[in-house]
This record gives sequence, C-alpha cells and structure tokens, in this order.
Amino acid sequence: MSDDPFRVSMAIDPDDIVAPVNRRIFGSLVEHMGRGVYGGLYEPENPWADEEGFRTDVLALVRELGVRIVRYPGGNFVSGYRWEDGVGPIDQRKARRERAWHSLEPNTFGLDEFARWSVKAGTEIMLAVNLGTRGARAAAELVEYANVTGGTKRSELRRSHGRERPYGVRTWCLGNEMDGPWQIGHKSAADYGRLAAETAQAMRTIDPTIELVICGSSARDMPTFGFWDETVLEHCHDQVDLISAHAYYDPEASDLSSFLASGAAMDDQIRQIVAITDLVARRKGSSKRIGISFDEWNVWYMGRHESRSADPRWRHAPRLCEDEYTFADAVVVGSLLITLLRNVDRVEVACQAQLVNTIAPIHAEPDAPARATAIYHPFALTARFASGNILRTSPTGPSLETESHGEVPAFDTVAAHDDLAGSVTIFSVNRSTTEPAQVSIDLSALAAVEILEHLVMEGKTPTTRGKNGEGGPPHEAPWHHDGDELTLHIPPISWSMLRLAKG
Ligand code: AHR
Repeated sequence: MSDDPFRVSMAIDPDDIVAPVNRRIFGSLVEHMGRGVYGGLYEPENPWADEEGFRTDVLALVRELGVRIVRYPGGNFVSGYRWEDGVGPIDQRKARRERAWHSLEPNTFGLDEFARWSVKAGTEIMLAVNLGTRGARAAAELVEYANVTGGTKRSELRRSHGRERPYGVRTWCLGNEMDGPWQIGHKSAADYGRLAAETAQAMRTIDPTIELVICGSSARDMPTFGFWDETVLEHCHDQVDLISAHAYYDPEASDLSSFLASGAAMDDQIRQIVAITDLVARRKGSSKRIGISFDEWNVWYMGRHESRSADPRWRHAPRLCEDEYTFADAVVVGSLLITLLRNVDRVEVACQAQLVNTIAPIHAEPDAPARATAIYHPFALTARFASGNILRTSPTGPSLETESHGEVPAFDTVAAHDDLAGSVTIFSVNRSTTEPAQVSIDLSALAAVEILEHLVMEGKTPTTRGKNGEGGPPHEAPWHHDGDELTLHIPPISWSMLRLAKG
C-alpha cells in the first residue's frame, strides 16, 4: 500500500450529455431457484410474512434498494416452466419436478402472486416466456392471460382467479440463454431465431403494445458470441426492441486486479453488442436502434457452487448459491453500475441477478429479519441518487495492466446531473490495489455549488467474506473545495459517491 496518490483530473459539464438516466437500469431478477422465491419473497408460515405470505422484512429492503423492474420467473427455470401450473386456486395447484435446478416446484407462487408482490414492492413486471420446451402458442396464451381485459378464454380464466384488471405487462423476454448447452431446449442460432420470430408475431397479435427482448449471447466468452447475436437478429430484427446480454464476474476466477476491472469487460461487451446490432440494422437498411437489456449481471462465486442441487432427492427450495460477499465484491458491483449508467444511451434495461438469497443483495433466514449483504449498498445508493442526465466526464489518469482485461483506467467514474433537483452526483471506483487517487474536478461549468456528502466504501481486507461484508456500509470521507476546483482523496480498492447541490 502506498501513500503516494496517482492523479486524475476531470470536468463536470452539464451540457455534455450522454442520455437521461433510465430507471429501468435498476432492475433485478427473481427466479424459482434455490430460496429465491420460497424462503425469500414468499414464506407464509414465517412470522414476518403478511396475510398473503410475502415477507415484509424482505419487501422493506427491496423498496429501500430502489429496484424498478423485476424479471420473472427465470433464468434457466423458465425453459421447463408451464405458466398454467402456477395460476388459479393454490390448493388445486400441483407440484412438479423442476429440471433446471433439480428441485421440487410446489407452484404455490406463480404469476398472480408475483404480480401482487410487485405492487407491494413498487416494481414493474418483466416476464420471460418458455422457448425451451414450449413455443409460440403457450407464449401468446400467457400474453392473453396477463394483458387482455376480458372476453377471451385466458383473460376470463384470469378473471375467474380473482384478478379483474389485466396486469399490463409491457416487457417480455423471448426465452432465456437459448445459446447455452445447459439450457433446457437449447437451440442453434437459426432454429432459435425462427422460433423467436414466430413467437414474437403470435404475442404481438394478442397485444401489439408489448416490448420484446430477444436472447443474445449468454456470456462474452461463449464460443458463439457475436455470431449468435447476429444470426438471431437477422431473423428477428424487425420484430424485437431489445437484445439481452448476461455477465457474471467470479472473484475467484482471476487475480484481484482483473476482478476489480470487471467493469471494463462489461464496457467492451456492450460496445461489441452495439456494433453487431448496428451492423444488422445497416444491412437491413433500417434506422431502428435495438437497445440492450442487460438482464443478468452480478458478482457470482460460480466456481464454488454446484449450482444445480447436488441432492439426488427432489428437494423443495434447496439452498443454492447463497454467497456471502466481500467489500471488493461491493466495489465491483458499484463499478458495474457505473458502466451501465455510462452506456445508458444503449442499455435500456438491466437486472442484477438475483434479488433474494440466491446470488443476492438481500439475505433472508427463517428465524431472523432479512438483511442486506455487502453488495446491497452501492446499488441502493446509485439507484437513489443517479437521476437526471448522465454526463460525459472523460477523466485523465493512469492505466493499470491486468491479466484478464489488459490495460484499463485505474480510476473510473460517471456523473449524473439532475437539473430539476439542482444536483450533481459523481460515482467513482479506484481499481488500484495499492495507490490512493487524488482526483481534481473542474466545476467551473456549474454555478456555485455546495458539497452535500462524500461517501466511500473501502476496507483493509478486501476479500474477507463476512456477514455484512468487511468494510460494511459506506462512510463519510473528506473533500477539499476551493473556488471552481474540488479535490477528492479516494483510497485504493474503493467505490465512492459524491453529491453536490447547485447554488
Ligand atoms: O442467475 C442464475 C442463472 O444464471 C440463470 O438462471 C441463468 O439464466 C444464468 O445462467
């Protein structure tokens, strides 16, 4: 560790706008996986559960986290799911063996429960349809159940289940990770492209207002990355609005410096997907701009877990991938959010995967109030304070050489300017493992400013896993403000947020 800081300079110019912050960047995934739903969102017998069986302690943390949209019901789970099994009177629903995670699915929580939970959580619904074992017909019937007011077979079925008004689900995913050999019903790019085009047409016939997400590559290191995305867009370009991207960063798959630079890998992935979507649009002579739905991203100790239940019995809600996070993980989550915000002109939806217990910012045990894990804090603060327009900041500073991602900037940052609220918020990450950063910010383009707070998330043992993650929630840090210049001292391996009000 060195006391000698490296220097960074940058300027805040409220006119240098990337795009307005889209709140759907602050999304999440709720999947029937492990204890994500049962024992997470839903646990009727729990003392913290409300009259509908939803854990109120979890709901309170979800609201505070600031999640805007939640993708459901998977993930890999959706590729073997029959949505009809999860609707209607609970006591008449039947359990099934669920193949994606080798679990027993009781079907006591389905679309109607999720929709009621979403109202309580204040979140928008994003639904995935099964294109693994099912196709256009089941998907269109689900749109009819969810979005048609009445007078048709499935809309009347919904009404008979006690839900008079349609759910009005706007955003729909055409399957999940269909390029992955692990996926139930995995397909070639051409087969999936044709099926997705047919399904999109069937779903839009029922509700022409819906927004559709085609499955892009499930990871940047898939051997078919790029080829898959181009092929499926060749089939569906005119029918879809967004293409999905997924990325998980395993702290134990690389050295610490490479892990801390995960945001640079995400940046590259976004750039490559944008290049492909724009290439296909040009080839088709279309002016349409396909957006990105980065609908699975997170830090995940993938190498540590049997992600499918290793238990040969078909267990209900087995514990799967219940990671304890370190503060280095929190720093990376904060930096991935910086990347997503910087690309808000092309990333229209993003979902941290997942929400509760499984790879999650919230942890719930049956006998204790739910709690935030270390990765909760940067998400909650970013969702709360990133508003208005994202600005280009173009910091100048040194680079770091990393084993997995080559040269990356040692310091990364994004700024949000909310003209209505009269505020500017700057989120930053110092990726150096040894040196603090001395950051000079030119504020001359703003009128007089008042510094409201500077919070830093740091710790001395970045990779210690613990209940709340070493380092805990962010703490207040000093700043120096002189005329038009603001100077921050940002410790190594840290995520920080500076808020200022325009005078
Ligand atoms: O989020 C866990 C799993 O990761 C999802 O089910 C799948 O889509 C991805 O591979």
